[in-house]
Amino acid sequence: MIIMSASSRYFFSNWKMYLGAAESEALARALRLAARETPEGVRLAVFPSALALPGVASALAQSPIAAGAQNVYWTPEGGYTGEVSAEMYARAGARYALVGHSERRHQFHETNHQVRLKLEACLAAKLTPVLCVGDTYEERTEGATREVLEAQVRAAYMSLAWPADRELIIAYEPVWAISRGVGKEGLHCNAAEAERWHVLIRQWSKEFTGAIPRVLFGGSVRPETIKEYMESLAIDGVLVGAAATSEAGWKSLYQHLLS
Ligand code: PGA
Repeated sequence: MIIMSASSRYFFSNWKMYLGAAESEALARALRLAARETPEGVRLAVFPSALALPGVASALAQSPIAAGAQNVYWTPEGGYTGEVSAEMYARAGARYALVGHSERRHQFHETNHQVRLKLEACLAAKLTPVLCVGDTYEERTEGATREVLEAQVRAAYMSLAWPADRELIIAYEPVWAISRGVGKEGLHCNAAEAERWHVLIRQWSKEFTGAIPRVLFGGSVRPETIKEYMESLAIDGVLVGAAATSEAGWKSLYQHLLS
């Protein structure tokens, strides 16, 4: 059974480590103009690097585009060289934060337990966490996707009192489909495969938190493919990396999202 999603559509852009502070701010200013007439129900956010966040947040103030952190540390302050806390991001103007992105989980060995600490820190700092979950190529090949996703969702939300004023957002990002350049060898996901996991992720998240989840898809979404994902009733929006790091790319995705 597909639990119908509400009418909101999400277009979130993860700029990863692609853009410096000055480039990020310039892009944010350009997108602000492009997003002037964003219809109600369309939720936009960009996730620049830590260094760029304050400038991007102020360039986007009072615009339809929110700013978010790519990662947070859970302790509000102290001797944690190189880290930036959820609290600090909130004070710098972030509204959202990605938590448990697969590049954090796999390149920086972030565990489900750490992801949980980060989620709790975001809630305490009044940020809206965007939990990222996903299966690797090996897990998919072994038929372990369901088990892996369920464990990630469970560890994140089990017995967590979800604040009534906070959106519950999860991004399904199959690791095997992320960062595939157009024309590069590799696997591409499609709406039918994503939908299967979105339905389960929505059910589990709702069961653990009691809140209504929004489930986004991420993994090499392009202007040519965004429509296919958005046509699925199980997919509430997209989290896009590389294709949304230029003005032309972002605008093209945005136009396709609205059309
Ligand atoms: P991609 O990145 O669109 O470049 O695959 C998505 C993500 O990692 O969030």
